[in-house]
Amino acid sequence: MKREKAMDSNQITREYFDEILIEMRHIDGVLPDTTMELYGKTFRTPVMMAALSHLKGKGGEGDGMVQMAEGAQLSGAVNWAGMGSDEQFAAIARTEVPTIRIIKPYADESLVLSALEQAENLGALAVGMDIDHSFSSRGEYDNVLGFPMRPRTLKEIEAYCRRTSLPFIVKGVLSPVDAKKCLEAGAGGIVVSHHHGILPTVVPPLMVLPEIAEVIHGQIPIFVDCGIMNGTDAFKALALGATAVSVGRAVMGGIAENGSQGAANVINDITAELAAVMARTCSPDLHHIDPSLLWKRDGKRLR
Ligand SMILES: Cc1cc2nc3c(=O)[nH]c(=O)nc-3n(C[C@H](O)[C@H](O)[C@H](O)COP(=O)(O)O)c2cc1C
Repeated sequence: MKREKAMDSNQITREYFDEILIEMRHIDGVLPDTTMELYGKTFRTPVMMAALSHLKGKGGEGDGMVQMAEGAQLSGAVNWAGMGSDEQFAAIARTEVPTIRIIKPYADESLVLSALEQAENLGALAVGMDIDHSFSSRGEYDNVLGFPMRPRTLKEIEAYCRRTSLPFIVKGVLSPVDAKKCLEAGAGGIVVSHHHGILPTVVPPLMVLPEIAEVIHGQIPIFVDCGIMNGTDAFKALALGATAVSVGRAVMGGIAENGSQGAANVINDITAELAAVMARTCSPDLHHIDPSLLWKRDGKRLR
């Protein structure tokens, strides 16, 4: 008999976004302000690039990660960077866009420490680790392009937070249990994410977000990614407790088509869609989005 495959987490996540509906409120409405303050800097939008890697640029030419950084600069958004070479990070830094660099959980600790140091020297906005990349899909330690990975203990994360002068962000938090540990470690932020479906059948970020937001209780920023495709998706995440959202695969199409301007266009379009929802829900700014605006398709309010 054919074995059933486990459910695809990206599909479950998309379905959950579409389960959530938004009520409208117009009386006392104002033009919305999408400005975001983060780590002492001001951005035009809470819609950010995602920590991507190995990207080809416009029409398959050039470095897609650098073009993404230029796109973030053009759109006034926060840039993120995933795995890459020292030269790539230096080129990204030359764009002068505030960038959050996510370091892989390398088994070789010296790689982590030198990446932390380079991020500081290049003036990164923050630094972090995608802790969800420590295991492979067969329950072994992961290996990314020949680099062995391993998981981190709470004590090790605590040590990174103490060691670096930058906010240290833990990427790949999908449980209030881990969120509590991140607070204990002194993390400067978390990314609620399943790394575009790194494990099948996992809970959608937005389903677990309210519980995580209760644990975090406004003490550090909460970033959310996975499947954010438009401004209503971003609005739902913000209403449920996200400080900001990251957009990965949706930006990749923009880069392939039109490089840095293509990446900027995706961020600008999602931001405009977000503003449209904020305007029609009496949400004046990012700090005043009422979670009771959200409904489930079954006719009950979500919160
Ligand atoms: C091509 C590609 C490369 C990625 N590389 C990294 C990486 O190096 N580090 C990391 O933390 N996440 C990486 N990610 C995961 C993204 O940061 C993000 O968590 C994920 O794509 C979900 O967001 P999305 O649905 O908007 O794409 C990568 C994703 C893609 C599609």
